[in-house]
Amino acid sequence: MEQTTKQRVAALREQINHHNYLYYVLDAPEVPDAEYDRLLRELEQLEAGHPELVTPDSPTQRVGAQPLDAFDEVRHRLPMLSLANAFSEQEMVDFDKRVRKLLDTDREITYLAEPKLDGLAINIRYEQGQLVQAATRGDGTRGEDVTQNVRTIPSVPLRLLGDNFPEIVEARGEIFMPRKGFETLNDRARNEGEKVFVNPRNAAAGSLRQLDPRITATRPLAFYCYGYGEFSTPDMGDSYRQIMAALKEMGIPVSPEQQLVTGVTGCLGYFHALAARRDRLDYEIDGVVFKVNSIRAQNELGAVSRAPRWAIAHKFPAQEELTQVEDVEFQVGRTGAITPVARLKPVFVGGVTVSNATLHNMDEITKKDVRIGDTVYVRRAGDVIPEVVRVLPERRPDDSRPVVLPTRCPVCDSDVVRPEGEAVARCSGGLYCAAQRKEAVKHFASRTAMDIEGLGEKLVDQLIETGLIHDPADLYQLQLAQLSGLERMGEKSARNLLEALEKSKQTTLERFLFALGIREVGEATSRALARHFGALGRLQQADEALLQQIQDVGPVVASHIVAFFQQAHNREVIDKLVSAGVCWDEYEPQVEPQQQPLSGKTFVLTGKLTRPRNEIKAQLQEFGAKVAGSVSRKTDYLVAGEAAGSKLEKAEALGVEILDESALQKMLEAL
Ligand code: IVH
Repeated sequence: MEQTTKQRVAALREQINHHNYLYYVLDAPEVPDAEYDRLLRELEQLEAGHPELVTPDSPTQRVGAQPLDAFDEVRHRLPMLSLANAFSEQEMVDFDKRVRKLLDTDREITYLAEPKLDGLAINIRYEQGQLVQAATRGDGTRGEDVTQNVRTIPSVPLRLLGDNFPEIVEARGEIFMPRKGFETLNDRARNEGEKVFVNPRNAAAGSLRQLDPRITATRPLAFYCYGYGEFSTPDMGDSYRQIMAALKEMGIPVSPEQQLVTGVTGCLGYFHALAARRDRLDYEIDGVVFKVNSIRAQNELGAVSRAPRWAIAHKFPAQEELTQVEDVEFQVGRTGAITPVARLKPVFVGGVTVSNATLHNMDEITKKDVRIGDTVYVRRAGDVIPEVVRVLPERRPDDSRPVVLPTRCPVCDSDVVRPEGEAVARCSGGLYCAAQRKEAVKHFASRTAMDIEGLGEKLVDQLIETGLIHDPADLYQLQLAQLSGLERMGEKSARNLLEALEKSKQTTLERFLFALGIREVGEATSRALARHFGALGRLQQADEALLQQIQDVGPVVASHIVAFFQQAHNREVIDKLVSAGVCWDEYEPQVEPQQQPLSGKTFVLTGKLTRPRNEIKAQLQEFGAKVAGSVSRKTDYLVAGEAAGSKLEKAEALGVEILDESALQKMLEAL
């Protein structure tokens, strides 16, 4: 029998929900994204033709609500508790002792361990399997109704899976913004001259508290469940672990890091293991939460002052601390960029003692209003360079001093220039400046460039300071006797270095290009250039228009590349490197560079389009156009489908030309 539309719609929804489960809950997708998109599109089309079949829990119905004037208040049926903290191993030992004492046992306790996510607590209520309400924690008793926004988060199921769930289910967990999404969001904001978020937590909070759900829908939010509120079936399991497993089966995502551990030794082992991996996680965490696994024991332990006695958060060392700016000095980088660095009163933050923090540039100093003598927040997250986050103006001393940009380079005394409209001031000394030479050589030798093992920073400093080398090419002229005469250099290390230099000569074009240190040409751009041109000679001859045909090469980067190869000095260094034996394989260019009809034009796609986005994108790119993710002054055309939202508004405001699909089609046909 032929399937009715209604049956097909139901089957599609079931498949889509199943794939969501595989992807978000089990982290084991079975189909490629394109296949998933096809299912969703088919469902969208069927629903468009049969509006009577649309239900609120359909996977197509994540966005659709109108902006609100304000959030309603929600009273939590069960209070949302907070957690007690442990800041040291001793406090963890004390916690475990207290638990055993209260339970009157000598046996080791089983705890459920999981990361403490740095986001916002949420309570998501399902009735008859349908998501009916999502509320923030608020003061624990009353929160805000953010249902429309939570519905837009892809990992939050709009309906529970299967049919084996209680009539009422409240899942509690954390809404957070994964690091990658946070960076993309901030890059976009920066490109468009908008405000950037200070950290993923603030970005998540700001996104969740949008009155317009269409904006929330564009924010990369995610959700992990770590607890529960009301259940209509009181007995969900004997252990926390079991209840979490039951929620997972209903399609609710739970942290894959969740693990049972035994006793305080188990807790500390988990804590250290996770701390070591912390920077490699996709999201920010600020500690580990341990919960007594047995529900019976939990009930026995109860709660005090709104925190359960059966759970604790073992926090990582703070990543932000207060200290004072004792002075501000200026460092000169590889491209001459002069970076203000705050000399701080040493402070223990993020697990290490920090006494310097970057202030980025003069605009940042003005924006943050940093003065010498100020008390500031310093942040050090993972491997990132510590930075001054903000000033506490109320603690500014009377004798504070403003930071003044020097007019001459602190290293070579050349003029400092700051082109109008640019944030960065630069030393004009170029390779006359020892600081720039040092940095250029360090960059050249670095692991992702020429990968010269054993050529560390101190050694480069010595080589430049003693005048043994002036540029990267001089490295390959170094002699054993010269090297072994240097400080902290024996004959053995000197030999090793010469060997490493020899080894580095056989390289690839992309590494070589990156190693040259052309301004704003990073690894990705070097790779794109190498692939596109295949040979150094062809790249050297390319003009700016030709360069701009490459994805991600805009007018600024193109001009830096051309300027670099125009400089006689740079050409000499390249020649010297090649005669010293540096070599790589050249090959035919992948695409014969030629002007295409839409070269230099930037398109943005938005709204519901009848053809898959990737298809339209590929077509535009074939004609040489760039397709960007967001509207800015650089956008030439916005292709707007139905229900286009903020991008359309922005394009209108900026006077960007707007095309509907048929106008786009006509344009492409005319090419
Ligand atoms: S359990 C009764 N588990 O931390 C249990 N909380 O400091 C209450 N949080 O408001 C919370 N990750 O927003 C729990 N794995 C986790 C968590 C977690 C983050 C947050 C949560 C809570 C706050 C308490």
